[in-house]
Amino acid sequence: MIRIAIKSLSQRGILQKLTISILLMAIIPLVLIIYLLRTEVGEVLLKNNVKVTMFFMICSICTGYILSRKIIVSVVRLARDMQGITHGNLSKRIKTSENDEVDMLARYFNQMTSELEKNIEDLKESKRVIQDVLLRINSAMGSDKKIDSVLELTLETLSQALNASSGTIMVSKEDKIKIMVSCGAISGIRRDISLKEEKSIIVKAYKEQKTQNVSKAGGAERLVFEKEAGFAYKSILCAPLMCKGKVLGVISLHDKKNWDNFSEDDVILIENLASQTAIAIENSRLNQHIERTYVETISTLALAVEAKDPYTRGHTKRVTNFVLRLAEEFSLDKDAKDMLKNAALLHDIGKIGIKDEILLKPGALTTEKRKHMQLHPIIGENILKPIHSLNKIAYLVRHHHERVDGEGYPGKLTKEYISLPLKILTVADAYDAMTSDRPYRKAMTKDEACQELKKCSGTYFDSKVVDVFLKIL
Ligand SMILES: [Fe+2]
Ligand SMILES: [Fe+2]
Repeated sequence: MIRIAIKSLSQRGILQKLTISILLMAIIPLVLIIYLLRTEVGEVLLKNNVKVTMFFMICSICTGYILSRKIIVSVVRLARDMQGITHGNLSKRIKTSENDEVDMLARYFNQMTSELEKNIEDLKESKRVIQDVLLRINSAMGSDKKIDSVLELTLETLSQALNASSGTIMVSKEDKIKIMVSCGAISGIRRDISLKEEKSIIVKAYKEQKTQNVSKAGGAERLVFEKEAGFAYKSILCAPLMCKGKVLGVISLHDKKNWDNFSEDDVILIENLASQTAIAIENSRLNQHIERTYVETISTLALAVEAKDPYTRGHTKRVTNFVLRLAEEFSLDKDAKDMLKNAALLHDIGKIGIKDEILLKPGALTTEKRKHMQLHPIIGENILKPIHSLNKIAYLVRHHHERVDGEGYPGKLTKEYISLPLKILTVADAYDAMTSDRPYRKAMTKDEACQELKKCSGTYFDSKVVDVFLKIL
């Protein structure tokens, strides 16, 4: 009977449960006793059988207790489960089996927890994307990569993170804004846009120095102007590249792949990256300017050194011509050619630190003076080392007197540690030195110098480079 009563009560509200419990616990036994007391039966029962009355009362109290306990247990369980969830176990859910207010509360709480869990997952994903983007871009900005490669990586990473179909980084030049790098589906993208183009969103972002987030619905007319005729974006997000209060250009992303519009989160991310990108562009411009000035200065110094020594006048220019022809024969890329050209121009810059009495001394040098003279590659390296981007040239300058058999100076590097550009530089330098007058000897003829190169092939010089050099002479 008690079980049936509990089961039927489980479908009722908590207030009803409580009322019924109190009725069962107190009011019903009380009414029963009062009723019995007014009847003859009651008098008899009370007089002769108090145990029966007591039995009824105890039964009522027990039933009331069981029902009240059931309510309290479900509240306690709810509180305990809620505590578990609020302590971080968001995957946990509160069990529901009944149909009262406590159960309803549990279901609402489960629903809220599910939504919270989803939001947290979304936030974690956004955080992961942002961290990934920043990590890749920071590592690119801290590397030796050229600015174009850094910007390409920045744009590609941002484009992937925001699920955009394409993107551009454009910088202003004269009265236009021109593409510096681009990524993705770029068919029809205009390579440059006039700053007078009032309807362009990119120009608007540049001129107003404000991020623009425009979708087809919000600015269909404007979206046409970023592309050549016949093409148009469905959505575009662009931010100005601001550095020290100056606008350098615009970074833009176009057409989300799932056809959504760009979100507020996307705006925050692009704005953060725009300022980093602008700083990178500005720093690169400043570095290029400093490096250009530095190279020009030391090139002038190199010429001054040559001018001081009549025997080496024109030496660097001739060596430069030889290395460039050899670089062509070995199909070296543009970067390697530029590096070799600068190394050839600057390889003897260290002679600026050699005393005139040694540099210009007629006749053979004593061992001590020769050792002093042999310091010029190291002095040269030290002159170039302060500029980070000249490190590779500094390396060539340091080792331009190495020999493939390991008997050169200053590093005594053997063949396997000597790079191809360095092998090219040593052959070109040695040939020009042999065919020039020196204070201690007359210049060799071309044939004599070629014979000398052949004789020293495989010991002083790399045999492959010597072979190619003899062919192009
Ligand atoms: Fe030298
Ligand atoms: Fe030289």
